[in-house]
Amino acid sequence: MHARVAAATTTALLGGTVLILPTSSAHAAADDRGPAVVAHRGASAYAPENTLAAVDKADDLGFGWVENDVQRTKDGVLVVLHDATLTRTTNVEEVYPGRAPWKVADFTAREISRLDAGSWFAPRYAGARVPTLSQYMNRVSRNHQKLVLEIKNPELYPGIERQMLQVLSNEGWLDPGHLRSRLIVQSFRPDSVRKVHDLRPGVKTALLGTPSIADLPEYARFADQINPSYTSISVGYVAAVHAFRGPHGNPLEVLTWTVDDADTARRVARYDVDGVITNRPDVVRRALRGY
Ligand code: G3P
Ligand code: CA
Repeated sequence: MHARVAAATTTALLGGTVLILPTSSAHAAADDRGPAVVAHRGASAYAPENTLAAVDKADDLGFGWVENDVQRTKDGVLVVLHDATLTRTTNVEEVYPGRAPWKVADFTAREISRLDAGSWFAPRYAGARVPTLSQYMNRVSRNHQKLVLEIKNPELYPGIERQMLQVLSNEGWLDPGHLRSRLIVQSFRPDSVRKVHDLRPGVKTALLGTPSIADLPEYARFADQINPSYTSISVGYVAAVHAFRGPHGNPLEVLTWTVDDADTARRVARYDVDGVITNRPDVVRRALRGY
Protein backbone atom coordinates (compact mmCIF):
# COMPACT_ATOMS: atom_id res chain seq x y z
CA MET A 1 0.00 0.00 0.00
CA HIS A 2 2.79 2.41 0.78
CA ALA A 3 5.50 3.43 -1.65
CA ARG A 4 8.35 2.33 0.52
CA VAL A 5 11.69 3.19 -0.94
CA ALA A 6 13.62 0.00 -1.42
CA ALA A 7 16.84 1.92 -1.33
CA ALA A 8 19.21 -0.88 -1.98
CA THR A 9 17.33 -2.65 -4.70
CA THR A 10 18.43 -0.69 -7.70
CA THR A 11 21.79 0.87 -8.15
CA ALA A 12 23.46 2.41 -11.15
CA LEU A 13 26.95 3.57 -11.81
CA LEU A 14 27.12 6.98 -13.41
CA GLY A 15 30.40 8.74 -13.92
CA GLY A 16 31.94 6.86 -11.05
CA THR A 17 29.12 7.79 -8.67
CA VAL A 18 26.81 5.15 -7.24
CA LEU A 19 23.23 6.32 -7.56
CA ILE A 20 20.61 4.63 -5.44
CA LEU A 21 17.35 4.65 -7.33
CA PRO A 22 14.07 4.33 -5.46
CA THR A 23 11.73 1.56 -6.51
CA SER A 24 8.19 1.43 -5.32
CA SER A 25 6.97 -1.83 -3.85
CA ALA A 26 3.99 -3.42 -5.59
CA HIS A 27 1.47 -1.60 -3.43
CA ALA A 28 -1.11 0.09 -5.57
CA ALA A 29 -2.54 2.55 -3.07
CA ALA A 30 0.49 4.60 -2.22
CA ASP A 31 -0.08 7.43 0.26
CA ASP A 32 3.42 8.23 1.31
CA ARG A 33 6.54 6.51 2.53
CA GLY A 34 5.98 4.05 5.34
CA PRO A 35 2.76 2.27 6.19
CA ALA A 36 -0.46 3.92 5.08
CA VAL A 37 -2.46 5.31 7.98
CA VAL A 38 -6.19 4.53 7.84
CA ALA A 39 -8.68 6.39 10.05
CA HIS A 40 -10.78 3.66 11.69
CA ARG A 41 -14.55 4.25 11.48
CA GLY A 42 -13.40 7.74 10.48
CA ALA A 43 -11.20 9.55 13.00
CA SER A 44 -13.26 7.85 15.68
CA ALA A 45 -11.26 8.94 18.71
CA TYR A 46 -12.28 12.52 17.93
CA ALA A 47 -15.76 12.30 16.39
CA PRO A 48 -18.60 9.76 16.59
CA GLU A 49 -17.64 6.63 14.68
CA ASN A 50 -19.11 5.89 11.27
CA THR A 51 -20.65 9.36 10.87
CA LEU A 52 -19.97 12.00 8.25
CA ALA A 53 -18.42 14.06 11.05
CA ALA A 54 -15.84 11.31 11.61
CA VAL A 55 -14.72 11.17 7.99
CA ASP A 56 -14.67 14.99 7.91
CA LYS A 57 -12.50 14.93 11.02
CA ALA A 58 -10.09 12.54 9.30
CA ASP A 59 -10.00 14.91 6.36
CA ASP A 60 -9.39 17.91 8.64
CA LEU A 61 -6.45 16.06 10.14
CA GLY A 62 -5.11 15.42 6.65
CA PHE A 63 -5.93 11.73 6.26
CA GLY A 64 -6.85 10.30 2.88
CA TRP A 65 -7.74 6.78 3.97
CA VAL A 66 -10.83 6.03 6.05
CA GLU A 67 -12.35 2.73 7.16
CA ASN A 68 -16.08 2.21 7.73
CA ASP A 69 -18.64 -0.55 8.21
CA VAL A 70 -21.74 -1.27 6.15
CA GLN A 71 -24.98 -3.05 7.13
CA ARG A 72 -28.60 -3.17 5.89
CA THR A 73 -31.93 -1.86 7.17
CA LYS A 74 -35.27 -3.69 7.27
CA ASP A 75 -36.31 -2.08 3.99
CA GLY A 76 -33.06 -2.91 2.25
CA VAL A 77 -31.07 0.33 2.49
CA LEU A 78 -27.34 0.10 3.15
CA VAL A 79 -26.20 2.18 6.13
CA VAL A 80 -22.84 2.85 7.75
CA LEU A 81 -22.73 1.43 11.27
CA HIS A 82 -20.54 -0.97 13.23
CA ASP A 83 -22.76 -2.90 15.63
CA ALA A 84 -25.62 -5.21 14.62
CA THR A 85 -27.81 -3.21 17.02
CA LEU A 86 -28.36 0.54 17.26
CA THR A 87 -28.11 0.84 21.04
CA ARG A 88 -24.46 1.73 21.64
CA THR A 89 -24.11 4.56 19.13
CA THR A 90 -27.58 6.08 18.88
CA ASN A 91 -30.53 7.13 21.09
CA VAL A 92 -32.70 4.34 19.65
CA GLU A 93 -33.90 3.12 23.05
CA GLU A 94 -35.27 6.57 23.82
CA VAL A 95 -36.90 7.15 20.44
CA TYR A 96 -38.26 3.64 19.97
CA PRO A 97 -38.88 2.12 23.42
CA GLY A 98 -40.31 -1.36 23.24
CA ARG A 99 -38.43 -2.31 20.08
CA ALA A 100 -35.71 -4.36 21.81
CA PRO A 101 -33.20 -5.65 20.87
CA TRP A 102 -33.01 -2.71 18.44
CA LYS A 103 -31.32 -4.55 15.59
CA VAL A 104 -30.36 -2.52 12.51
CA ALA A 105 -32.23 -5.10 10.43
CA ASP A 106 -35.48 -4.44 12.35
CA PHE A 107 -35.67 -0.72 11.50
CA THR A 108 -36.43 1.06 8.24
CA ALA A 109 -34.03 3.62 6.83
CA ARG A 110 -36.57 6.35 7.60
CA GLU A 111 -36.77 5.27 11.22
CA ILE A 112 -33.00 5.17 11.52
CA SER A 113 -32.69 8.61 9.93
CA ARG A 114 -34.47 10.09 12.97
CA LEU A 115 -31.83 8.84 15.40
CA ASP A 116 -29.12 10.91 17.01
CA ALA A 117 -25.80 9.17 16.36
CA GLY A 118 -23.63 11.87 17.91
CA SER A 119 -24.79 12.76 21.44
CA TRP A 120 -23.50 9.53 22.94
CA PHE A 121 -20.02 10.66 21.94
CA ALA A 122 -20.12 14.34 22.87
CA PRO A 123 -22.85 17.01 23.15
CA ARG A 124 -21.37 19.03 20.31
CA TYR A 125 -22.12 16.18 17.91
CA ALA A 126 -25.83 16.09 18.79
CA GLY A 127 -27.86 15.56 15.64
CA ALA A 128 -25.24 13.58 13.73
CA ARG A 129 -27.03 10.88 11.73
CA VAL A 130 -26.40 7.28 10.74
CA PRO A 131 -25.46 7.83 7.10
CA THR A 132 -26.76 5.74 4.27
CA LEU A 133 -23.96 4.26 2.20
CA SER A 134 -24.86 6.65 -0.64
CA GLN A 135 -24.67 9.71 1.63
CA TYR A 136 -21.44 8.43 3.02
CA MET A 137 -19.87 7.78 -0.42
CA ASN A 138 -20.82 11.29 -1.45
CA ARG A 139 -18.97 12.74 1.49
CA VAL A 140 -15.89 10.58 1.01
CA SER A 141 -15.87 11.59 -2.66
CA ARG A 142 -16.25 15.26 -1.78
CA ASN A 143 -13.31 14.94 0.61
CA HIS A 144 -11.24 13.14 -2.08
CA GLN A 145 -10.69 10.36 0.40
CA LYS A 146 -9.96 6.67 -0.10
CA LEU A 147 -11.94 3.91 1.46
CA VAL A 148 -11.54 0.58 3.23
CA LEU A 149 -15.16 -0.54 3.36
CA GLU A 150 -16.05 -3.44 5.65
CA ILE A 151 -19.07 -5.61 5.05
CA LYS A 152 -20.22 -6.17 8.63
CA ASN A 153 -22.12 -9.31 9.61
CA PRO A 154 -22.71 -10.41 5.99
CA GLU A 155 -24.39 -13.57 7.25
CA LEU A 156 -27.29 -11.37 8.43
CA TYR A 157 -27.78 -9.72 5.05
CA PRO A 158 -27.97 -12.17 2.13
CA GLY A 159 -26.93 -10.55 -1.14
CA ILE A 160 -25.30 -7.54 0.52
CA GLU A 161 -22.17 -7.94 -1.59
CA ARG A 162 -23.99 -7.44 -4.89
CA GLN A 163 -26.06 -4.60 -3.45
CA MET A 164 -23.01 -2.83 -2.04
CA LEU A 165 -21.21 -3.11 -5.38
CA GLN A 166 -24.27 -1.60 -7.07
CA VAL A 167 -24.16 1.41 -4.73
CA LEU A 168 -20.42 1.78 -5.28
CA SER A 169 -21.01 1.63 -9.03
CA ASN A 170 -23.84 4.19 -8.85
CA GLU A 171 -21.56 6.51 -6.92
CA GLY A 172 -18.79 6.18 -9.51
CA TRP A 173 -16.46 4.10 -7.33
CA LEU A 174 -15.95 1.16 -9.68
CA ASP A 175 -14.22 3.07 -12.47
CA PRO A 176 -10.57 2.19 -13.21
CA GLY A 177 -9.19 5.11 -11.19
CA HIS A 178 -11.01 4.17 -8.01
CA LEU A 179 -10.26 0.48 -8.46
CA ARG A 180 -6.58 1.19 -8.96
CA SER A 181 -5.94 3.13 -5.79
CA ARG A 182 -8.96 4.29 -3.81
CA LEU A 183 -11.06 1.31 -2.76
CA ILE A 184 -10.59 -1.82 -0.67
CA VAL A 185 -13.52 -4.04 0.39
CA GLN A 186 -12.96 -6.21 3.45
CA SER A 187 -14.77 -8.69 5.67
CA PHE A 188 -14.08 -11.19 8.43
CA ARG A 189 -16.04 -13.75 6.36
CA PRO A 190 -14.04 -15.41 3.58
CA ASP A 191 -17.24 -16.28 1.69
CA SER A 192 -18.21 -12.63 1.54
CA VAL A 193 -14.77 -11.56 0.33
CA ARG A 194 -14.82 -14.31 -2.29
CA LYS A 195 -18.25 -13.21 -3.47
CA VAL A 196 -17.08 -9.62 -3.96
CA HIS A 197 -14.09 -10.85 -5.93
CA ASP A 198 -16.21 -13.16 -8.08
CA LEU A 199 -18.77 -10.45 -8.82
CA ARG A 200 -16.22 -7.70 -9.58
CA PRO A 201 -12.72 -9.16 -9.94
CA GLY A 202 -11.23 -5.69 -10.36
CA VAL A 203 -12.07 -4.69 -6.78
CA LYS A 204 -9.20 -4.91 -4.31
CA THR A 205 -10.27 -7.06 -1.36
CA ALA A 206 -9.08 -7.94 2.13
CA LEU A 207 -9.77 -10.78 4.52
CA LEU A 208 -9.89 -9.63 8.13
CA GLY A 209 -8.33 -11.86 10.78
CA THR A 210 -5.17 -13.89 11.19
CA PRO A 211 -5.60 -17.05 9.13
CA SER A 212 -3.01 -19.79 9.37
CA ILE A 213 -0.24 -19.68 6.80
CA ALA A 214 -1.45 -23.05 5.52
CA ASP A 215 -4.72 -21.43 4.43
CA LEU A 216 -3.15 -18.51 2.59
CA PRO A 217 -2.85 -20.23 -0.82
CA GLU A 218 -6.65 -20.56 -0.82
CA TYR A 219 -7.33 -17.00 0.38
CA ALA A 220 -4.79 -15.54 -2.05
CA ARG A 221 -7.11 -16.60 -4.87
CA PHE A 222 -9.58 -13.86 -3.97
CA ALA A 223 -8.02 -11.54 -1.34
CA ASP A 224 -5.32 -8.94 -1.98
CA GLN A 225 -4.78 -8.27 1.70
CA ILE A 226 -4.81 -10.13 5.00
CA ASN A 227 -5.77 -7.64 7.73
CA PRO A 228 -5.10 -8.92 11.26
CA SER A 229 -5.30 -7.50 14.75
CA TYR A 230 -1.93 -6.10 15.83
CA THR A 231 -2.15 -8.36 18.89
CA SER A 232 -1.87 -11.44 16.70
CA ILE A 233 1.08 -10.70 14.40
CA SER A 234 4.84 -11.05 14.34
CA VAL A 235 7.54 -10.10 11.88
CA GLY A 236 7.49 -13.72 10.67
CA TYR A 237 3.74 -13.71 10.08
CA VAL A 238 3.85 -10.50 8.05
CA ALA A 239 6.77 -11.83 5.97
CA ALA A 240 4.91 -15.08 5.37
CA VAL A 241 1.84 -13.19 4.12
CA HIS A 242 3.98 -10.99 1.87
CA ALA A 243 5.44 -14.09 0.23
CA PHE A 244 2.09 -14.90 -1.42
CA ARG A 245 0.66 -13.17 -4.45
CA GLY A 246 -2.96 -12.14 -4.57
CA PRO A 247 -5.50 -12.32 -7.39
CA HIS A 248 -4.01 -9.29 -9.12
CA GLY A 249 -0.50 -10.70 -9.12
CA ASN A 250 0.88 -8.48 -6.36
CA PRO A 251 2.30 -9.61 -3.02
CA LEU A 252 -0.41 -9.89 -0.39
CA GLU A 253 -0.51 -6.80 1.81
CA VAL A 254 -1.13 -6.45 5.54
CA LEU A 255 -3.12 -3.66 7.19
CA THR A 256 -3.19 -4.15 10.94
CA TRP A 257 -5.72 -2.79 13.47
CA THR A 258 -6.54 -1.08 15.78
CA VAL A 259 -3.29 0.64 16.72
CA ASP A 260 -3.75 3.75 18.83
CA ASP A 261 -0.40 4.31 20.57
CA ALA A 262 3.01 5.33 19.32
CA ASP A 263 4.98 2.32 20.61
CA THR A 264 2.69 -0.18 18.94
CA ALA A 265 2.69 1.85 15.74
CA ARG A 266 6.47 1.74 15.62
CA ARG A 267 6.51 -1.97 16.44
CA VAL A 268 4.17 -2.93 13.60
CA ALA A 269 6.06 -0.63 11.22
CA ARG A 270 9.18 -2.66 12.06
CA TYR A 271 7.20 -5.74 11.09
CA ASP A 272 6.88 -4.10 7.65
CA VAL A 273 3.09 -3.87 7.59
CA ASP A 274 1.61 -1.99 4.65
CA GLY A 275 -0.91 -0.05 6.66
CA VAL A 276 -2.07 0.80 10.16
CA ILE A 277 -5.77 1.19 10.93
CA THR A 278 -6.25 3.54 13.88
CA ASN A 279 -8.77 5.60 15.81
CA ARG A 280 -5.97 8.14 16.38
CA PRO A 281 -4.40 8.70 12.96
CA ASP A 282 -2.53 11.79 14.13
CA VAL A 283 -0.79 9.82 16.90
CA VAL A 284 0.21 7.07 14.48
CA ARG A 285 1.40 9.49 11.81
CA ARG A 286 3.61 11.27 14.33
CA ALA A 287 5.03 7.97 15.58
CA LEU A 288 5.81 6.77 12.08
CA ARG A 289 7.75 9.79 10.86
CA GLY A 290 10.94 8.38 9.46
CA TYR A 291 9.53 4.96 8.56
O1 G3P B 1 -10.59 -2.52 9.86
C1 G3P B 1 -10.38 -3.37 10.90
C2 G3P B 1 -11.43 -3.33 11.96
O2 G3P B 1 -12.40 -2.39 11.64
C3 G3P B 1 -12.06 -4.63 12.22
O3 G3P B 1 -12.72 -4.64 13.42
O4 G3P B 1 -14.71 -4.58 14.83
O5 G3P B 1 -13.50 -2.48 14.35
O6 G3P B 1 -14.83 -3.57 12.59
P1 G3P B 1 -13.99 -3.76 13.81
CA1 CA C 1 -14.54 -2.22 10.70
